[in-house]
Amino acid sequence: MRVVVASKNKGKIEEIRSCLFNTSIVSMSLEVVSMDEYPDLPEIVEDGQTFEENAIKKAIIVAEYTREIALADDSGLMVDCLNGEPGVLSARFGGKELDDNGRNQLLLERIKGEKNSCNQSLKTARFVCVLAIATPEGAVRTVQGSCEGIIADIPMGKHGFGYDPVFIPDGYTATFAELGIEIKNKLSHRAKALEKARDVLKKLLAAND
Ligand code: IMP
Repeated sequence: MRVVVASKNKGKIEEIRSCLFNTSIVSMSLEVVSMDEYPDLPEIVEDGQTFEENAIKKAIIVAEYTREIALADDSGLMVDCLNGEPGVLSARFGGKELDDNGRNQLLLERIKGEKNSCNQSLKTARFVCVLAIATPEGAVRTVQGSCEGIIADIPMGKHGFGYDPVFIPDGYTATFAELGIEIKNKLSHRAKALEKARDVLKKLLAAND
């Protein structure tokens, strides 16, 4: 059975593959391919109000287009003192012209600016990931994972992607970008959601036999 990961984000795809390949499910004849195999698929506009809406939209479109099972991730960082921002707009926080580094700087500036609601010593936040699994026949299931932590004072570390340099997971004193992919894949929102997604994929595999 083939599963198409409905994303062009290399950091995400690497994590999804590494989480799924670390489990027995891949030896159960599951082939994980990326959108690189489908270069003509039109860009999917992520205009949902929630992670779930966006993940479902991406998974359904990709499953219909590829005629394969599609796994779509919509995820982001929610900072408590910014009322959950950047949230569903994490990838576009501050506008399209910003890169990951620019978004991290903007996030730290926004937090510093929130003197009243942001307790500087406790900048709690969480990464959230919703995964949608859709079949070419139109069935869709979603699973969710989250990872609690705090926002660092300055970006630190070189691994990972996105907001990894500013996120310190609970129980650690280093950012995801310092901890590296092996530790991140044991704790992350995406790893937790993928653990649940495995059960869904297993059932689909069994149904395909
Ligand atoms: P989308 O799911 O493609 O809309 O984008 C999610 C955005 O959230 C990414 O571009 C990152 O900025 C951020 N994000 C999601 N998951 C992670 C993560 O594991 N580490 C760092 N940033 C993340």
